[in-house]
Amino acid sequence: MVDQDLRPFFAAASAGLTFNAPLGEARAADLVRRLAPDGPHWRALDLGCGNGELLLRLCHAHGIDGDGVEREAADGERVRRRAAELGIADRVGFHAADATTWDRPAELVVNVGASHIWGGTEQALAALRPLTAPGGKLLFGEGFYRTEPTAQVREIFGDMTDLASLARLAVAAGFRTTHVAESTLGEWDDFESDWRAGIEALGTPHARAFADRRRDEYLGGYRGTLGFAWLVLTAA
Ligand SMILES: C[S@@+](CC[C@H](N)C(=O)[O-])C[C@H]1O[C@@H](n2cnc3c(N)ncnc32)[C@H](O)[C@@H]1O
Repeated sequence: MVDQDLRPFFAAASAGLTFNAPLGEARAADLVRRLAPDGPHWRALDLGCGNGELLLRLCHAHGIDGDGVEREAADGERVRRRAAELGIADRVGFHAADATTWDRPAELVVNVGASHIWGGTEQALAALRPLTAPGGKLLFGEGFYRTEPTAQVREIFGDMTDLASLARLAVAAGFRTTHVAESTLGEWDDFESDWRAGIEALGTPHARAFADRRRDEYLGGYRGTLGFAWLVLTAA
């Protein structure tokens, strides 16, 4: 949950990002390929879609329709602009809504960096299973601990599983794991730098202090400890 006072910083941080996650172009292209529909009439659904870039690329690459659900209504403007650029404005719907209220399943479901919508990893997987049509695919992008976190890191991110336990949770929720990978340190470094750049651009002392704190927390704390997993799951 983001502190209300910090919301403008988080909005500034994400404004210039292509993806609000440690995701480079090569992996994005690989994931789009791995998430190709297995049959006709597939529909995509991204819950907590942010600016919707991944959803738009999936719909564009595979010629399918889709829905993005996002609490921040302001993201809708970018989704609509990008959809128009890609020539798929009539095929992608943006819904400014709380994703916990969404109840229409889809064959291709995306949830990246947004398990907190349901209160954590296990709850998210439980909610996402009935939203993934039988035989459909879920892209679950989720944080995990690569190594034992320090007390300070655990205070920031709370309890998280390791990668093996994360995959086991997905299986326990009724998915099969088709592909499991993690963001590289390079993807993390780029993400953190680009994220801070949006805050630096605000130029105020308060913004700089916030960016400095985040840099120290990363470089002196969670760099290499906090991982980000990319799970392509099939609804068993
Ligand atoms: C870390 S961002 C990830 C955004 C996007 N999935 C991406 O990878 O670029 C998490 C997103 O979840 C959204 N979110 C948080 N709670 C939500 C809710 N209850 N309903 C819909 N969206 C929510 C946030 O506004 C934010 O855009």
